[in-house]
Amino acid sequence: SINAIIALLVAYLFGSIPTAVWLGQSFYGVDVREYGSGNAGATNTFRVLGGKAGVAVMIIDILKGWTATNLAYFIGVSVTGPTSSVLFINYQLALGVIAVMGHLFPLFAGFRGGKGVATLFGMVLAVHLQAALLCVGMFISVLMLTRYVSLGSILAGFTFPFSIVFVFHTPYKSLLLYGMCICVLILVTHQKNIERLLKGKESKINLFKKSNT
Ligand code: G3P
Repeated sequence: SINAIIALLVAYLFGSIPTAVWLGQSFYGVDVREYGSGNAGATNTFRVLGGKAGVAVMIIDILKGWTATNLAYFIGVSVTGPTSSVLFINYQLALGVIAVMGHLFPLFAGFRGGKGVATLFGMVLAVHLQAALLCVGMFISVLMLTRYVSLGSILAGFTFPFSIVFVFHTPYKSLLLYGMCICVLILVTHQKNIERLLKGKESKINLFKKSNT
C-alpha cells in the first residue's frame, strides 16, 4: 500500500538524521568523523566530545530506530490475530532495518554515517523489550570488563538471536532471521574494529574521563 511505501521512506529519513555530525558541528564546531575512529556514532562522539554529547547522540540514535520501527502502526495492519501479528512484526523489522541503512548511509551527511548499533538497539527495543534488556546486560558487562565498546556491540548483537531462540522460544521466525542479519551487519560494520581487537590495538573507552584519541 501507499502507506507502507511512505513509512519506509520516512524510516530511511529518520535513520538518515546524522545526530553525531550535526550535534558536533552545531555545539562544538567539530565533525566527529575527522577524529577518533572516524565513525559518526555515539561512541566516537563520547570519545571526541565527551560524556554529555555521547549520551545525547546515543539517546537520539536509539529513538531513531525505535520511532522508525513503530511507524508500522501507521501502515494499517491490524495488530490482532496470529497472521496479522506476524505481518506486523515483519513490517516493524523491515522499517527498523531501513532506518539502520539510513544511519549507515545518511542522506543528510554525504552518505557517511555510523555503524548502526544504537539504531539497531532502538529497533530491538521496539520489537522485543526483554531481549533488548538482555542485550543491554551483555553490552554493559563486556564494556565494564574490557572497556571495548566495539566488542560490547558485537556480543550484544549476537545476544539477540541467541536469546530469541534459547531464552524466549519466540514463535516469530522472522525475529530469528533478522537477528541473524543483525549479527552479519554488525560484523560487517565492525570489520576495522575486529582487526584492531585481534591486534590488541582497539582503543579502550575511558568512561569517567574526557579523552581525545
Ligand atoms: O557503536 C559503534 C561501536 O561499536 C564502535 O565505535 O567509534 O569505536 O568504532 P567506534
